[in-house]
This record gives sequence, C-alpha cells and structure tokens, in this order.
Amino acid sequence: MLTNAIIAESASEFTTDVCSGLTKPDQKELPSKYLYDQVGSRLFEVICELPEYGLTRADERLLRLHATEIVERVPGQVVVAELGSGSGKKTRWILEALSRHRPTSYYPIEISATALAMCERELADIDSISIVGFEHEYLDGLLKVAARHQDGQRILVLSLGSTIGNFDHPADVSFLREMRLILQPGDALLLGTDLQKPILQLIEAYDDPLGVTAAFNLNLLARINRELDADFVLEQFEHVAKFSSVTRSIEMHLRSRQDQVVTIHKTGLSVPILENETNWTESCHKYSPQEVVSMAEDAGFRCDAQWIDHEWPFAENLLMAE
Ligand SMILES: C[S@@+](CC[C@H](N)C(=O)[O-])C[C@H]1O[C@@H](n2cnc3c(N)ncnc32)[C@H](O)[C@@H]1O
Repeated sequence: MLTNAIIAESASEFTTDVCSGLTKPDQKELPSKYLYDQVGSRLFEVICELPEYGLTRADERLLRLHATEIVERVPGQVVVAELGSGSGKKTRWILEALSRHRPTSYYPIEISATALAMCERELADIDSISIVGFEHEYLDGLLKVAARHQDGQRILVLSLGSTIGNFDHPADVSFLREMRLILQPGDALLLGTDLQKPILQLIEAYDDPLGVTAAFNLNLLARINRELDADFVLEQFEHVAKFSSVTRSIEMHLRSRQDQVVTIHKTGLSVPILENETNWTESCHKYSPQEVVSMAEDAGFRCDAQWIDHEWPFAENLLMAE
C-alpha cells in the first residue's frame, strides 16, 4: 500500500543531550536513542541475526505461533501503532493475521528515518494494510495516532523486542503510565520483555565475538563526530557490556583507554575524559514474568495473556487498558 512518512523536527536536541551527557559529574551518559542513525539502525539489524542474540528469534517465534490468538483477543476495528518498529520484520505476523479479516491502518513510530524506511519497504506488500510512518519519539507519535483514529476503533500498540527494558526502573512504569493516559479503555498493548537468564549468556549477547555490538555502540561516537564535528578517536575507546545485579540489567558503556580531551567543535565544548572512565550508552533490564504483570497493573493495564519462549526466556504480554 501507499506509504507516507510524517516527520518531526528534532534539530538541536541531539547537541543539547550530548553536551549535558558528557558533562555529567559522576557518570557520563549518552541516551540510547542516539544509537540509531543510518549506520546504527543497519548494525542493529545485523545484531538481530547473531547466534549469541537470541532475543529477536524468541520474539519472532512467539509472534509466529500466537499472532492469530493475539489479534482475536483485540476484536473489532483496530489501528496498529508500533513504538520503535525497527525494520518491522516481526510485525508482519500481526499485520497478516489482522489483514485476513479487516483492513487495518499501521503506524510505525520511529526516531530513525533509516529504520522507518526499512519498515515501510518490508511491509508494503501486505494487502489491506495502509502504512503511515511517524518519524517521532514514542509518545509524541502515539499522541498523533490517537488524534487520528476514529470513534469505535481500538488502538493496538506494539512494543516489541524488549524496548521497555531500555527504561531504567521506575522509568519503565512511568513510560507505561504515560502510554496508558493516551489510550482509552479497550485499547491494548502487546509488550515484549526479555526475561532473566544466566549472566554469561547475557554478556555474550551484548558483546559478541564478531564485534558487531561493539561497532553499534562505538558508532554513537562516530555519529557525534559526523553530526557535531567532534574529534573522538574511536580506537581510544572500547565497548563494555556488564551485568548489574542491583538493577538486573545489562549495561553498555564506552570505556576510555587513556586520559584524553575531546572537543565538540560545533559547540566549542571540550571534555576531559580519564583513563577507564566510561560513557554509559544503554541499559537492558531483564524481567521476571510476574514483574511484568505487576508493572502493567501499576500503570493501569490488565495482563490479558502472557506467552513465554523457553528456548530463550522471553515474554510477549498482551495488556489491556482498563
Ligand atoms: C531495540 S530496537 C527494537 C526494534 C524492533 N522493535 C525490534 O524488536 O527489533 C529500538 C528501536 O526503537 C527506535 N527508538 C529508540 N528510541 C526511540 C524513541 N525515543 N522514540 C522512537 N523510536 C525510538 C530505534 O530507532 C530502534 O529502531
């Protein structure tokens, strides 16, 4: 079907976030959303194919096995809004199950223009689905979808691949709560959540021997060089993945191999970085199945069904707005 992207201006927010993140007094931090540019979004697709990264395959298995039941549990006219669609490959299972019975509007919401374009290409051949992409932040995009949908239509929000785990607790509950405020009773959220598993297995998933995840992480510095005329020397940083047993999250960092000063020429900011000091770039929380149910209830949802993949512990959760 014909696709149209609706694009938001995000202009200088990147500059502001990079400068404030690099000058944080205790722990330097760069928001994970900036990992996804034209290079990062493509590297992420490669990560999804790596043997060590079982998360995407588990998510896909559950969607393939249960798509029919999932859409039957959300009857009537449905519009689908996907938060951070990436390439949209797995979404095909849901859209095909829906399109067998009803014409459906699909709104992928993406911060990455590259991911949005991949998604629109990937799913364009499904009959009875109209696609309108929103190049927006998650909740801004969802607000736009809510404003467009008609009375009598339910919104089915998809948040696949454990995107929710990138929010540190309690930001994950706050995010769900904000989402719930946009939705109406009867709307639904299909929430993917990666589950707890042995630490070594997790470390390998986020620090693969081929170095794809390292390249994905280091690309954030390369992006700052490209877009803000900074002078990060990539060889002077190394990718680190570690598990925090306090937060039960994998953390990705970029560790400086030496004392150095980096300048962001676009802003004139120079930042001293010590040997072994790190920039924290991403967290990926690992849930227990019951934790997801409680988190959903705290945010105003009811867990209607939960499907678990046991090969790579991962849960697909169908949450109803009440
Ligand atoms: C971990 S990937 C998951 C992609 C896909 N859902 C999957 O399961 O493979 C997260 C996706 O969300 C997008 N993203 C990250 N932060 C975002 C934000 N704040 N608003 C909108 N999209 C965002 C990224 O560009 C990326 O494509």
